[in-house]
Amino acid sequence: MYICNSVRQSIKIIQHLEVMSSLIIKSFAQYKKEYARSVENPEGFWAERADEFVWHRKWDKVLDYNFVDYQTQWFVNGKLNITENCLDRHLATQGDKKAIVWEPNDPNDAGQTLTYRELHAKVCQFSNVLKSLGVVQGDRVCLYMPMIPELAIAVLACARLGAVHSVVFGGFSAQSISDRINDSACKILVTSDGAFRGNKEIKLKDIADEAMSSTPSVEKCIVFKRTGSFVHWTAGRDLWWHEEMAKASVDCPAISVDSEDPLFILYTSGSTGKPKGVLHTTAGYMVYTHYTFANVFRPGKNDVYWCTADIGWITGHSYIVYGPLLAGATTVMFEGIPTWPDAGRFWQVIDKLKVNQFYTAPTALRSLMGAGLQHVAPYSLSTLKVLGSVGEPINEEAWIWYHKYIGKSRCPIVDTWWQTETGGILISPLPNVTKLKPTMATLPLPGVQPVLLTPEGKEITENNVEGLLCIKYPWPSIIRTTYGDHERCRATYFGLFPGYYFTGDGAKRDEDGYYRIIGRVDDVINVSGHRIGTAEVEDAINKHPFVVESAVVACPHPIKGQGIYAFIICDRTIVSEKAFKDEVLLEVTKQIGAIAKPDIIQVVPGLPKTRSGKIMRRILRKIAEGDISNLGDTSTLLDPSIVDVIKAGAPTLKGK
Ligand code: PRX
Repeated sequence: MYICNSVRQSIKIIQHLEVMSSLIIKSFAQYKKEYARSVENPEGFWAERADEFVWHRKWDKVLDYNFVDYQTQWFVNGKLNITENCLDRHLATQGDKKAIVWEPNDPNDAGQTLTYRELHAKVCQFSNVLKSLGVVQGDRVCLYMPMIPELAIAVLACARLGAVHSVVFGGFSAQSISDRINDSACKILVTSDGAFRGNKEIKLKDIADEAMSSTPSVEKCIVFKRTGSFVHWTAGRDLWWHEEMAKASVDCPAISVDSEDPLFILYTSGSTGKPKGVLHTTAGYMVYTHYTFANVFRPGKNDVYWCTADIGWITGHSYIVYGPLLAGATTVMFEGIPTWPDAGRFWQVIDKLKVNQFYTAPTALRSLMGAGLQHVAPYSLSTLKVLGSVGEPINEEAWIWYHKYIGKSRCPIVDTWWQTETGGILISPLPNVTKLKPTMATLPLPGVQPVLLTPEGKEITENNVEGLLCIKYPWPSIIRTTYGDHERCRATYFGLFPGYYFTGDGAKRDEDGYYRIIGRVDDVINVSGHRIGTAEVEDAINKHPFVVESAVVACPHPIKGQGIYAFIICDRTIVSEKAFKDEVLLEVTKQIGAIAKPDIIQVVPGLPKTRSGKIMRRILRKIAEGDISNLGDTSTLLDPSIVDVIKAGAPTLKGK
């Protein structure tokens, strides 16, 4: 057994930067070698990568898993605290280095910088606030906040106490928040009075108040003052962030948690039912996000890294907070939106903060591309070294535009494929190591063993093929369970193809073994890189009193990648379609949030159903795509004539 003593720990801290650089793959030959080793001896490979961290107790065994009834444990019986590895271990060598650079929504407002030392102090203080409110290890804490440093502070403060954070994206509705809070019985809700997004102010506290009218588990609500606007106050429950912080000490020892103790829950949509709480644990997530961050973005010692995601999504968890801080990097947090005050905002921030690695989503690139090059022209973008893409397939036009006009044809693009469930990037080029091909996520990172399967579950071994993307061996940050319902986790990811983790994505593999992700093969729509379950949207639409039934499918969208197309049957003649559609949009916004609003609504007299009552979504998808060249066999439909009626009324087919 190995207990880290202080001398050994100090040596490790000093060695940290050297170790960091030895983790980095520098050539394609080295990639091949490390990949081969990670497959031949995964435990040895990951043990080396875990060894540089501060552990209170070293693990007994690197990996224990089975994909049958599904369980995975990494670094079994290890004891640690992830925040010591994100913060404390950097203090001796780089306490004055910038940890977080915050860029506010309004370019005229002053931003904020927190050094590692300052961030450490604030995290300790907020941990003490949570502690004073009775939060103990294992308690769940919901964070519903804007993109302000306090969100990262709250995330880390939970982790320091071993409490489990559940961040809910600031664009979700009251109903979505209360569903998530109730699913995991959160004890505390942290929010702010409001949030600035472009020229709008969103009253987060009002939404949180509505949510808390049906969340019996919430004992206290901590409110950060961001916008200064009026808030309703529930005495005894609501507390101001600044008042509580003023009382709290900056000293808070990190508690020792087990490698497999939960770190966070993040809700994500699946093909059925309500969003599920994807649960990630501590040590494996730490080792994997650090290793992938360091290799995919490879920031130099004085570099500034910027990921434009929101911490409400997995990209923000892994590659704004944990990955960069574990690596001792400088990470930018941006509160605003890409198109306000104008479509040059990203490029202006890159020049202002001298950003070296920039990570964004194809949907943002497409909208900025559409705004024209006059918004790019004023900026030099000369500090950029690596460009990243995530969340959805990047189309060739956007890839080339990004490469040419933002990267000035000298910055590699890392098209990173991964998921909430995978915790970290699984397939991606390594910059200046992997030969790029536009639109391709290219090759698996070391430790990742992807396969393509036929619908019957047979492995396809040749190249130049298309299939269902699965992974056949665990990596350290693989999902551990879906909160409160392990069977749902097993059935969703391991039930369909025994022995494999099923991603829900289809992919192509070319002659070089490069992967290109095609998109979801299940009933999940990827809107602007955000996952929306069709069943969730249908449930929301069906709440409208006139609606008898609805079917939701994806349609192509020039900016969002995929849009939402809803076919709706009503129980009466709709006098004003416009008024009805507005009401449906309102209902969806209320139930889920504005991100799930359908782009197209078509009122139909019936849906194409089989004799057993199953909706043939394949036909609806074709109509939504505006492609009726091959609708396939419709003879098994109960009423084949309904297809012609739907076609005749489909806006996507007008003029075809
Ligand atoms: O369909 C894939 C798509 O996003 C899904 C995962 O969504 P989520 O869990 O919200 O995580 C998004 C951020 C990691 C995947 O199943 N996706 C993600 N990255 C890519 C992608 N599709 C194509 N190319 C990518 N680089």
